[in-house]
Parts: sequence; structure tokens; C-alpha cells
Amino acid sequence: MAFHEKIETRNWLMIVLVTIVVSIGGIVEIVPLFFQRTTTQPAPGVEPYGVLELAGRDVYIREGCYNCHSQMIRSLRSETLRYGPYSVAGEFVYDHPFQWGSKRTGPDLARVGGRYSDEWHRQHLIAPRELVVQSNMPAYPWLEKAPVDPAKMVRHLHALKAIGVPYTDEQIEAAPELVEGKTELDALVAYLQGLGVTRH
Ligand code: HEC
Repeated sequence: MAFHEKIETRNWLMIVLVTIVVSIGGIVEIVPLFFQRTTTQPAPGVEPYGVLELAGRDVYIREGCYNCHSQMIRSLRSETLRYGPYSVAGEFVYDHPFQWGSKRTGPDLARVGGRYSDEWHRQHLIAPRELVVQSNMPAYPWLEKAPVDPAKMVRHLHALKAIGVPYTDEQIEAAPELVEGKTELDALVAYLQGLGVTRH
């Protein structure tokens, strides 16, 4: 029996050998990324999220905006023409968890910051179809009435600091005041307006 046939006719041997080969491929591709500065260091201008933006990011995750929106511009001409410069790894070093997504029922949001006014975003989130008639985006009217919880944001900042986001103690101490009296809508708009702005 030829060597090749021996492998192909023995399920378990085949499974073990395929696993070994795929693992080598995976290790060669993935491990160097842990040591490359471009993937572990922030891109120029990328700072940890401000506390209000971070609160907005929590709303973004809770409401599942990532189910319809990606935040990852691929290096294809059609994408860079529509959305701007393609995304690089260093833009996401403070994202825990990242919001790349892959489903695009709506447009990519990686560089949406500054494209519309705050007022546009507020109205669009409360009633999308009043601004974009054919939109199938859900409305989020309750965000306007939901307050941001300052104590929760302090805990969140501590947690992010523990996993390596460089928040200072002064920043954490000042945080509750910055979100006091803000609504989840304020926070979400602040988050959207910061997306991609310092990150080109
Ligand atoms: C069911 C899918 C769906 C969900 C869920 C969804 N969106 Fe959308 N979104 C869309 C579609 C479709 C559009 C394009 C039409 C429009 O502008 O309303 C859009 C447009 C947008 C735009 C304008 C983007 C641009 O470049 O014009 C923003 C900002 C946005 N969505 C934010 C959000 C946020 C924040 C959430 C979560 C609170 C969310 N979306 C949830 C489908 C969705």
C-alpha cells in the first residue's frame, strides 16, 4: 500500500496529521502578531476612550449595533473610496472587546465620527426613518431617557485598567462628574462622533 493511501484510508491518523499541519500554519501566522509593534502599540493619535464615549460604547454593545454595522474598513479600493483609509490593527488596541463585526446591513461605522452633526445622530437614533426614509434601522427612543450610571463607569474604568488600558487614577477619579446627568443617548452620540476621528 502506498504511503499516501495508508494515511487516506485511516481516519484517525488522517485527523491527527491534519491537525498537526493546520496548527503549524496557525502558529506561523498568529504568534508573530503578539510581538509586532504595529499590532500591539496604539496607532498615532489613538487614546483610550473618554468615560462618556466608553459609556456610549457599552450602549452600542448592549443594543447589538454590531449585528448590522461593522467597524473595519478593508484594504479594498471600493471600501476606502466609500469609508476612508482602511483600518489598521493599532487603532483597536484599547478596544475590549473589539467591534469589527462582519455583517453590514448598515454602513461601516469605523470612521463615521464628524460625518454628521450631533443633532443628526440624536434624531437618527430616535427615529431613523424621519431622516433616511428607506432605512430599516430600529429606533432607540428610550436612550434619551436612560441615565448613565457613574458608579458603573468607575468600575468599568478600573476593569479596563486592570487589563492594561493606561487610565490614570486622576482620570478614574474625575470620571463620575463627567457622566453625571448624561443620558445614554448623549453617550452613544459621543462614542459615534469619536469613531475614527483621531485614528487616521
Ligand atoms: C437591523 C439593522 C441595524 C441595526 C441593529 C442598527 N442599524 Fe444603524 N443603520 C442600519 C442601516 C440599514 C443604515 C442605513 C440607513 C440609515 O442611515 O438609517 C444605518 C445607518 C446608521 C448610521 C449612519 C451611518 C452613515 O454613514 O450614514 C449610524 C451612525 C448608525 N446606523 C448607528 C447605529 C447604532 C449606534 C446602532 C445601535 C444602537 C445601530 N445603528 C443599529 C441598520 C441598522
